[in-house]
Amino acid sequence: MGKVHPSVVILTGAGISAESGLRTFRASDGLWEEHRIEDVATPEGFERDPELVQNFYNERRHQLKTVVPNAAHRALAELEQGWQGDFLLVTQNVDDLHERAGSRSLIHMHGELHKARCQRCHGVFRWEADLGAMTPCPSCGAHGELRPHIVWFGEMPLELDRIGEALERCSLFLAIGTSGNVYPAAGFVRMVPRQARRIELNLEASMVAGAFPEHRTGPASETVPELVRELLG
Ligand code: OAD
Repeated sequence: MGKVHPSVVILTGAGISAESGLRTFRASDGLWEEHRIEDVATPEGFERDPELVQNFYNERRHQLKTVVPNAAHRALAELEQGWQGDFLLVTQNVDDLHERAGSRSLIHMHGELHKARCQRCHGVFRWEADLGAMTPCPSCGAHGELRPHIVWFGEMPLELDRIGEALERCSLFLAIGTSGNVYPAAGFVRMVPRQARRIELNLEASMVAGAFPEHRTGPASETVPELVRELLG
Protein backbone atom coordinates (compact mmCIF):
# COMPACT_ATOMS: atom_id res chain seq x y z
CA MET A 1 0.00 0.00 0.00
CA GLY A 2 1.24 3.51 -0.81
CA LYS A 3 1.97 6.06 1.87
CA VAL A 4 -1.09 7.97 3.05
CA HIS A 5 -0.52 11.69 2.85
CA PRO A 6 -2.17 13.93 5.44
CA SER A 7 -4.72 16.46 4.23
CA VAL A 8 -4.63 19.99 5.52
CA VAL A 9 -7.16 22.80 5.79
CA ILE A 10 -5.91 26.28 6.67
CA LEU A 11 -8.19 29.15 7.74
CA THR A 12 -6.78 32.66 7.60
CA GLY A 13 -8.12 35.98 8.85
CA ALA A 14 -7.17 39.65 8.85
CA GLY A 15 -4.17 39.01 11.13
CA ILE A 16 -2.19 37.39 8.31
CA SER A 17 -2.42 40.58 6.24
CA ALA A 18 -1.77 42.97 9.16
CA GLU A 19 2.00 43.00 8.64
CA SER A 20 1.45 43.86 4.97
CA GLY A 21 -0.18 47.06 6.21
CA LEU A 22 -3.89 46.20 6.03
CA ARG A 23 -5.79 46.99 9.20
CA THR A 24 -7.65 44.19 10.99
CA PHE A 25 -11.30 44.63 12.00
CA ARG A 26 -11.39 44.31 15.77
CA ALA A 27 -8.10 45.83 17.01
CA SER A 28 -8.27 49.16 18.87
CA ASP A 29 -7.25 50.84 15.58
CA GLY A 30 -9.33 48.36 13.54
CA LEU A 31 -11.77 49.09 10.74
CA TRP A 32 -14.81 48.44 12.93
CA GLU A 33 -13.70 51.21 15.31
CA GLU A 34 -14.05 53.79 12.53
CA HIS A 35 -16.98 52.40 10.57
CA ARG A 36 -20.25 50.93 11.78
CA ILE A 37 -20.76 47.36 10.58
CA GLU A 38 -24.47 48.11 10.03
CA ASP A 39 -23.56 50.99 7.67
CA VAL A 40 -20.92 49.40 5.44
CA ALA A 41 -21.20 45.62 5.82
CA THR A 42 -24.89 44.72 5.66
CA PRO A 43 -27.40 44.52 2.79
CA GLU A 44 -29.60 47.02 4.68
CA GLY A 45 -26.71 49.51 4.89
CA PHE A 46 -26.21 49.20 1.13
CA GLU A 47 -29.88 49.82 0.46
CA ARG A 48 -29.87 52.88 2.72
CA ASP A 49 -26.72 54.52 1.37
CA PRO A 50 -25.10 52.78 -1.61
CA GLU A 51 -22.66 55.65 -2.19
CA LEU A 52 -21.21 55.35 1.31
CA VAL A 53 -20.81 51.59 0.96
CA GLN A 54 -19.26 51.78 -2.52
CA ASN A 55 -16.81 54.42 -1.28
CA PHE A 56 -15.79 52.28 1.70
CA TYR A 57 -14.86 49.40 -0.64
CA ASN A 58 -13.38 51.72 -3.31
CA GLU A 59 -11.01 52.99 -0.66
CA ARG A 60 -10.04 49.49 0.33
CA ARG A 61 -9.52 48.50 -3.31
CA HIS A 62 -7.16 51.48 -3.69
CA GLN A 63 -5.27 50.52 -0.58
CA LEU A 64 -4.74 46.99 -1.91
CA LYS A 65 -2.61 48.47 -4.68
CA THR A 66 -0.17 49.85 -2.11
CA VAL A 67 0.56 46.62 -0.21
CA VAL A 68 2.36 43.34 -0.96
CA PRO A 69 2.21 39.82 0.49
CA ASN A 70 4.38 39.15 3.54
CA ALA A 71 6.44 36.15 4.67
CA ALA A 72 3.36 34.38 6.07
CA HIS A 73 1.48 34.50 2.74
CA ARG A 74 4.61 33.32 0.93
CA ALA A 75 5.17 30.45 3.38
CA LEU A 76 1.62 29.14 2.79
CA ALA A 77 2.22 29.14 -0.98
CA GLU A 78 5.42 27.15 -0.38
CA LEU A 79 3.55 24.71 1.82
CA GLU A 80 1.01 24.13 -0.94
CA GLN A 81 3.82 23.48 -3.44
CA GLY A 82 5.59 21.00 -1.19
CA TRP A 83 2.55 19.28 0.34
CA GLN A 84 1.86 15.70 -0.80
CA GLY A 85 -1.74 15.31 0.42
CA ASP A 86 -4.92 17.33 -0.13
CA PHE A 87 -4.49 21.03 0.52
CA LEU A 88 -7.12 23.73 0.96
CA LEU A 89 -6.61 27.32 2.03
CA VAL A 90 -9.79 29.07 3.16
CA THR A 91 -9.50 32.78 3.73
CA GLN A 92 -11.96 35.20 5.30
CA ASN A 93 -9.91 37.99 3.77
CA VAL A 94 -11.20 39.92 0.78
CA ASP A 95 -7.70 41.06 -0.23
CA ASP A 96 -5.72 39.21 -2.91
CA LEU A 97 -2.45 38.74 -1.03
CA HIS A 98 -2.68 34.93 -0.94
CA GLU A 99 -2.98 34.62 -4.72
CA ARG A 100 -0.27 37.23 -5.27
CA ALA A 101 2.01 35.11 -3.06
CA GLY A 102 1.31 32.08 -5.26
CA SER A 103 -1.50 30.19 -3.46
CA ARG A 104 -3.76 28.31 -5.90
CA SER A 105 -6.05 26.00 -3.91
CA LEU A 106 -7.86 28.89 -2.28
CA ILE A 107 -11.43 29.78 -1.31
CA HIS A 108 -12.43 33.37 -0.49
CA MET A 109 -15.35 32.52 1.76
CA HIS A 110 -16.21 36.20 2.43
CA GLY A 111 -15.81 37.34 -1.18
CA GLU A 112 -13.20 39.44 -2.96
CA LEU A 113 -12.52 43.16 -3.24
CA HIS A 114 -11.57 42.70 -6.88
CA LYS A 115 -14.96 41.40 -7.92
CA ALA A 116 -18.36 43.02 -8.41
CA ARG A 117 -21.72 41.31 -8.62
CA CYS A 118 -24.94 42.34 -10.36
CA GLN A 119 -28.04 42.07 -8.18
CA ARG A 120 -30.20 41.91 -11.32
CA CYS A 121 -28.50 39.25 -13.53
CA HIS A 122 -26.28 37.73 -10.78
CA GLY A 123 -23.16 38.01 -12.98
CA VAL A 124 -19.85 38.21 -11.12
CA PHE A 125 -17.14 40.36 -12.72
CA ARG A 126 -13.47 41.02 -12.08
CA TRP A 127 -13.39 44.65 -10.89
CA GLU A 128 -10.27 46.81 -10.42
CA ALA A 129 -11.80 50.29 -10.80
CA ASP A 130 -14.07 52.33 -8.54
CA LEU A 131 -17.72 51.38 -8.29
CA GLY A 132 -20.34 54.13 -8.14
CA ALA A 133 -23.92 53.92 -6.98
CA MET A 134 -25.09 53.98 -10.64
CA THR A 135 -22.28 52.09 -12.42
CA PRO A 136 -23.97 49.99 -15.15
CA CYS A 137 -23.64 46.21 -15.17
CA PRO A 138 -21.28 45.15 -18.00
CA SER A 139 -23.54 42.20 -18.80
CA CYS A 140 -27.20 43.25 -18.48
CA GLY A 141 -26.67 47.02 -18.49
CA ALA A 142 -28.78 47.64 -15.37
CA HIS A 143 -27.90 50.79 -13.43
CA GLY A 144 -27.56 50.83 -9.65
CA GLU A 145 -27.45 47.04 -9.33
CA LEU A 146 -23.70 46.41 -9.10
CA ARG A 147 -22.40 45.74 -5.61
CA PRO A 148 -19.05 44.65 -4.16
CA HIS A 149 -18.73 40.84 -4.26
CA ILE A 150 -18.39 40.80 -0.48
CA VAL A 151 -20.32 38.60 1.96
CA TRP A 152 -22.01 40.98 4.37
CA PHE A 153 -23.40 40.26 7.80
CA GLY A 154 -26.61 38.28 7.52
CA GLU A 155 -25.50 36.73 4.19
CA MET A 156 -24.30 33.20 3.50
CA PRO A 157 -20.52 32.69 3.11
CA LEU A 158 -19.35 31.16 -0.18
CA GLU A 159 -18.52 27.52 -0.95
CA LEU A 160 -19.46 26.18 2.47
CA ASP A 161 -20.15 22.68 1.04
CA ARG A 162 -16.66 22.32 -0.37
CA ILE A 163 -15.14 23.67 2.84
CA GLY A 164 -17.22 21.30 4.98
CA GLU A 165 -16.12 18.26 2.99
CA ALA A 166 -12.45 19.20 3.29
CA LEU A 167 -12.81 19.81 7.05
CA GLU A 168 -14.44 16.43 7.61
CA ARG A 169 -11.51 14.55 6.12
CA CYS A 170 -8.55 16.67 7.18
CA SER A 171 -5.87 15.51 9.57
CA LEU A 172 -4.33 18.94 10.14
CA PHE A 173 -6.19 22.20 10.71
CA LEU A 174 -4.50 25.58 11.11
CA ALA A 175 -6.20 28.87 12.02
CA ILE A 176 -4.01 31.91 11.41
CA GLY A 177 -4.71 35.51 12.46
CA THR A 178 -8.44 35.23 13.07
CA SER A 179 -10.23 36.34 16.23
CA GLY A 180 -12.92 33.64 16.28
CA ASN A 181 -15.75 36.18 16.49
CA VAL A 182 -17.45 35.45 13.19
CA TYR A 183 -19.33 32.24 12.41
CA PRO A 184 -19.38 29.87 10.63
CA ALA A 185 -15.57 30.24 10.24
CA ALA A 186 -15.05 30.32 14.00
CA GLY A 187 -16.75 26.92 14.23
CA PHE A 188 -14.59 25.15 11.63
CA VAL A 189 -12.19 23.87 14.30
CA ARG A 190 -15.08 21.87 15.78
CA MET A 191 -15.91 20.25 12.43
CA VAL A 192 -12.59 18.45 11.96
CA PRO A 193 -12.13 14.82 13.08
CA ARG A 194 -11.33 14.43 16.79
CA GLN A 195 -7.89 13.01 16.09
CA ALA A 196 -6.89 15.83 13.71
CA ARG A 197 -4.01 18.05 14.76
CA ARG A 198 -5.31 21.59 15.42
CA ILE A 199 -2.99 24.58 15.72
CA GLU A 200 -3.89 28.22 16.32
CA LEU A 201 -1.38 30.87 15.20
CA ASN A 202 -2.16 34.31 16.56
CA LEU A 203 -0.74 37.23 18.54
CA GLU A 204 -3.08 36.32 21.37
CA ALA A 205 -5.65 33.68 22.29
CA SER A 206 -8.73 33.91 20.05
CA MET A 207 -12.36 33.51 21.17
CA VAL A 208 -12.17 29.80 20.27
CA ALA A 209 -8.62 29.15 21.53
CA GLY A 210 -9.90 26.40 23.84
CA ALA A 211 -10.70 24.17 20.84
CA PHE A 212 -7.01 24.14 19.79
CA PRO A 213 -4.64 21.80 21.65
CA GLU A 214 -1.64 23.64 20.11
CA HIS A 215 -0.86 27.36 19.94
CA ARG A 216 1.91 29.34 18.27
CA THR A 217 1.95 32.85 19.69
CA GLY A 218 3.59 35.70 17.78
CA PRO A 219 3.44 37.63 14.52
CA ALA A 220 2.31 35.50 11.57
CA SER A 221 5.35 36.58 9.50
CA GLU A 222 7.46 34.61 12.01
CA THR A 223 5.25 31.78 13.27
CA VAL A 224 3.93 30.70 9.86
CA PRO A 225 7.29 30.29 8.05
CA GLU A 226 8.61 28.45 11.12
CA LEU A 227 5.69 26.00 11.16
CA VAL A 228 5.90 25.50 7.39
CA ARG A 229 9.60 24.58 7.71
CA GLU A 230 8.64 22.01 10.35
CA LEU A 231 5.81 20.57 8.28
CA LEU A 232 7.87 20.24 5.12
CA GLY A 233 10.69 18.72 7.17
P1 OAD B 1 -10.33 40.29 13.38
O1 OAD B 1 -9.94 41.73 13.21
O2 OAD B 1 -11.56 39.99 14.12
O3 OAD B 1 -9.14 39.50 14.10
C1 OAD B 1 -7.81 39.60 13.67
C2 OAD B 1 -6.99 38.61 14.47
O4 OAD B 1 -5.66 38.62 13.99
C3 OAD B 1 -6.92 38.89 15.97
O5 OAD B 1 -7.18 37.70 16.69
C4 OAD B 1 -5.48 39.38 16.18
O6 OAD B 1 -4.97 38.95 17.46
C5 OAD B 1 -4.76 38.65 15.09
N1 OAD B 1 -3.54 39.31 14.60
C6 OAD B 1 -3.35 40.65 14.39
N2 OAD B 1 -2.13 40.89 13.91
C7 OAD B 1 -1.52 39.67 13.79
C8 OAD B 1 -0.23 39.25 13.32
N3 OAD B 1 0.68 40.11 12.89
N4 OAD B 1 0.04 37.91 13.37
C9 OAD B 1 -0.87 37.02 13.83
N5 OAD B 1 -2.10 37.37 14.25
C10 OAD B 1 -2.42 38.67 14.24
O7 OAD B 1 -10.35 39.65 11.90
P2 OAD B 1 -11.02 38.29 11.40
O8 OAD B 1 -10.99 37.25 12.45
O9 OAD B 1 -10.42 37.98 10.08
O10 OAD B 1 -15.92 39.84 7.56
O11 OAD B 1 -12.51 38.76 11.17
C11 OAD B 1 -13.45 37.89 10.60
C12 OAD B 1 -14.43 38.63 9.73
O12 OAD B 1 -15.00 39.71 10.45
C13 OAD B 1 -13.82 39.29 8.52
O13 OAD B 1 -13.68 38.40 7.42
C14 OAD B 1 -14.76 40.38 8.20
C15 OAD B 1 -15.04 40.88 9.60
O14 OAD B 1 -16.26 41.49 9.79
C16 OAD B 1 -16.51 40.50 6.55
O15 OAD B 1 -16.20 41.61 6.20
C17 OAD B 1 -17.61 39.74 5.89
